[in-house]
Amino acid sequence: MRKIDIFDTTLRDGEQSAGINLNTAEKIEIAKQLERLGVSIIEAGFPASSPGDFEAVNRIAKTVKNSIVTGLARCVKNDIDATWEAIKDAEQPHIHVFLATSPIHMEYKLKKSPDQVVEQAVEAVKYAKKFFPLVQWSAEDGFRSDRDFLVRIMEKVIDAGATTINVPDTVGYASPQEYGELFKFLRENVRGAEKVKFSAHCHDDLGMAVANSIAAIQNGADQVECTINGIGERAGNASLEEIGVAMHIRKDLYQIETGLNLKEIKRTSQLVSRLTGVIIQPNKAVVGKNAFAHESGIHQDGVLKHKETYEIISPELVGEGEVPLVLGKHSGRAAFRDRAEKMGFDLSEEKLNKAFQEFKKLADRKKEITEEDLMTLLTEQQVSIEDVQLFELKSVQVSYGTENIPTATASVLTPEGELKTLAATGSGSVEAIFNTLEQLVNGTVNILDFRVKSVSKGRDALGEAIVNLRYNGFTSTGRDASQDVLEATAKAYLNAINRHIIQESVRLKQTAEV
Ligand code: KIV
Ligand code: ZN
Repeated sequence: MRKIDIFDTTLRDGEQSAGINLNTAEKIEIAKQLERLGVSIIEAGFPASSPGDFEAVNRIAKTVKNSIVTGLARCVKNDIDATWEAIKDAEQPHIHVFLATSPIHMEYKLKKSPDQVVEQAVEAVKYAKKFFPLVQWSAEDGFRSDRDFLVRIMEKVIDAGATTINVPDTVGYASPQEYGELFKFLRENVRGAEKVKFSAHCHDDLGMAVANSIAAIQNGADQVECTINGIGERAGNASLEEIGVAMHIRKDLYQIETGLNLKEIKRTSQLVSRLTGVIIQPNKAVVGKNAFAHESGIHQDGVLKHKETYEIISPELVGEGEVPLVLGKHSGRAAFRDRAEKMGFDLSEEKLNKAFQEFKKLADRKKEITEEDLMTLLTEQQVSIEDVQLFELKSVQVSYGTENIPTATASVLTPEGELKTLAATGSGSVEAIFNTLEQLVNGTVNILDFRVKSVSKGRDALGEAIVNLRYNGFTSTGRDASQDVLEATAKAYLNAINRHIIQESVRLKQTAEV
């Protein structure tokens, strides 16, 4: 079996998706889960792009031990310096530098000649190599680049010390046959190719990202770059779970080992969906809610007689399955702590106590506490920020009737510690809540998107609200889960506003440090 490295870019390319803005605590949580999943490399962010990204990459580099942590940088000194500052404490410091090589990008975006591009790439790799033992260089828009030019620039960056060469299909234009052929061509024609790893990075604009990545593997790629749930720029990146499971289920054909712990797939997918607010389509391969649901009578009959008539992947393989109920109304703190630890949570005493209080409240109101409920509750505590004063919803009351004007009254503790209570009307309950809260948060708020969904099954399931809004020019997505969707809505709204406050506090802290 040949080993392929899984390079996860959920926290960098994935986070570039429209509407996603994860805070540092959430990124750390995702990184820890990716480590549990067994990915070889975690691209934790783009340190030079913002103080928030710098902080997240730095904290992840210090936290994660079993996966290599990398950060993205343009081929410029400042970016490389920022990435070194963020990554230097990692077990194996790795940097990912990129520069566009296609004629259209060089002429219109970079406004540089091919010779200038070669020079800049070589200088950057040489400079990065002074700090980093592992240097990945990417030919942005590599698939649409001239092949002879790729050979020329790749030979030069390998001589300069690059350890991995990435050939992205940045715009998702390739077909599997063409992308595979490109890898074969580069492997055969680039002098020094045997000294480096070749990497595939595919976007899904034509729905072929996974197929293209697999074609690259079959033609000599040693690494594939992908994201959980396939999130990423525009139509997204190749989906990690689809590649990982395809390599496992069809190992007879591909003879590839990924090192992934597939049992962590479902949990990773749900964590990323919950924290990013990006809902997984029901029929999504491997992780969609219907991926293992047999609907037609003929299929159900077949599966009952012999599972493999219609089931090529067992749900247990990816960690999906009924988890026995272990906690209820009468469970004590010790049992709760034990369950949280078994689920992989490592909460401070204070956060564990808060989670336990929330659990008790929920257990009083809800008959069965499911694994999903516990995940939601514990994740909320794990990613909560302790050292920044934020808006906190104290109460919300809505008066609604088909013949009345909906009115919401909300009491909110402000970051300044003041308790404010206000009321406003709206054309519906949700609008009344939004109008009330807008008066409390001092600013102009535009709602861009709003969704509610249930966390688990049953009529008493927790409801999760996701609010995507623009607050004083800052776009943010907030979420919260509660037994009542209107309460979840009010909290999700404030969560989105709080993200702005957290981002500002990181920025101010960094400015003060400089
Ligand atoms: O799609 C792309 O080309 C990228 C590069 C930065 C590798 O994401
Ligand atoms: Zn990309």
